Amino acid sequence: MSYEERLQHVSILGAAGKMGSGILLLTAMEMADISLKPENKGKPYVLNAIDVSDEALAGVIKYLKAQVLKLAEKKVVGLRKVYAGHAGLIDNDEIINQYVFDVISLVRTTTRLESAYDSFMIFEAIKEDPALKISLFSKIASNNPHQPWFFTNTSSIPITKLDEGAALKGCIIGFHFYNPPAIQKLVEIIKAEQTLPEVEEFARTYAKNLRKVIVPSHDVAGFIGNGHFMRDILYANSAVDKLSPEFSYTEAVYAMNKITQDYLVRPMGIFQLIDYVGVDVCSFILSVMDHHLKEEKLHSPLLDKLLSQGVKGGQFSDGSQKDGILKYEKGRPVAIYDPGTKTYVAISELQSKVDQKLGTMPIPPPWKVVVGSKAKNELLRDYFSQLKNEASLGAALAKAYVLNSHAIGQQLVSSGVAMNENDVNTVLLTGFFHAYGPINNYLA
Ligand SMILES: NC(=O)c1ccc[n+]([C@@H]2O[C@H](COP(=O)([O-])OP(=O)(O)OC[C@H]3O[C@@H](n4cnc5c(N)ncnc54)[C@H](O)[C@@H]3O)[C@@H](O)[C@H]2O)c1
Repeated sequence: MSYEERLQHVSILGAAGKMGSGILLLTAMEMADISLKPENKGKPYVLNAIDVSDEALAGVIKYLKAQVLKLAEKKVVGLRKVYAGHAGLIDNDEIINQYVFDVISLVRTTTRLESAYDSFMIFEAIKEDPALKISLFSKIASNNPHQPWFFTNTSSIPITKLDEGAALKGCIIGFHFYNPPAIQKLVEIIKAEQTLPEVEEFARTYAKNLRKVIVPSHDVAGFIGNGHFMRDILYANSAVDKLSPEFSYTEAVYAMNKITQDYLVRPMGIFQLIDYVGVDVCSFILSVMDHHLKEEKLHSPLLDKLLSQGVKGGQFSDGSQKDGILKYEKGRPVAIYDPGTKTYVAISELQSKVDQKLGTMPIPPPWKVVVGSKAKNELLRDYFSQLKNEASLGAALAKAYVLNSHAIGQQLVSSGVAMNENDVNTVLLTGFFHAYGPINNYLA
């Protein structure tokens, strides 16, 4: 079965979710582009959007229409060629509306898993629950006569465990989109021990057609991206603990969030990033990694405590940030949650005291300036050489954090999760928008 034939009947599991809706959008457009080729005229194309909630699925179609409209406007020159000769499609608006119609017509929303029994390809983005994923895969595999291929978006579960658990005989691969899938360029591709070469080849073609940056990761829980992120979180937690008793808990969180954003020149501080991803999601990924990587202790009592008090973070459906470890106003952190008193403490109340304790710091170039600059390397080299020579507490904390991030990166290579240092750096640069990869010589 060719690439194009396989994309004739596809199902997305969890299609109304954060990741599923984005994967649905990208796949619907890829399928529409194939179906509109003259040689494919008249062939049926079906894309099942499967989720447990009808209500959520209704929202997905609205989302899809709005997004396809936006993306179609960007590719109108190509679409003019596709629709050349179609009577009645003259101006750009008519062509765009026809394309939106053609994309949406492929999609069938449904709560019935049985719809996937006819598909050749299954993209899965349900919640990070190994037992649930295995159970859905088994049901589909044993009822679908076409021996479908499974592309799982799992953030952390070893693909081999899913393959073995559902007896898929290698018809599975990890295809780890980053959030949001339509915008983020990075995809980690993870082969299970038995993944068939043709499944991998399809994954690479599909990623290339979606114009993604591919980084292969070995099949180790957490892969490269979360392998780094989760260990970074645990390091931040331990740094908060070590700052006690000189710093109160909220002061220490403020200090480490500021250090990891401003003094590490990152797009957001580590605690803001945990809120962005969701305290619950991070905690769950950690628990999966902890389960599979027995030689390491990958557990955060702090995240557990926050979760037990209902502090979750995550995002509203319009993409705005929910309160979590930090409280937000217009997207900016204004207060820090104190699990001791179960209230938020305003940053303005502790800021100047903590800044004073952190001491003198070189002025870091803002992340936005660095990532947009042609002289990025020089800016970073200059800043880090100043940081290196600074002896304040803040500088010591920042340097130790950079070195720990470097060590995590190297561990990912030496333990065989990443093929090489460049892949680790690409994941952090592309998937996390860091201004520099963790494996660097800035503090050497
Ligand atoms: N959110 C992220 O930043 C992110 C990034 C990369 C990968 N992932 C991974 O992607 C997957 C989905 O994460 P998400 O953040 O989109 O979660 P989500 O909770 O937003 O979406 C999950 C969707 O699955 C649906 N669902 C639950 N049970 C189902 C079932 N039995 N059948 C069909 N649909 C079902 C839910 O209704 C929901 O719409 C997880 O494996 C996660 O680890 C998430």
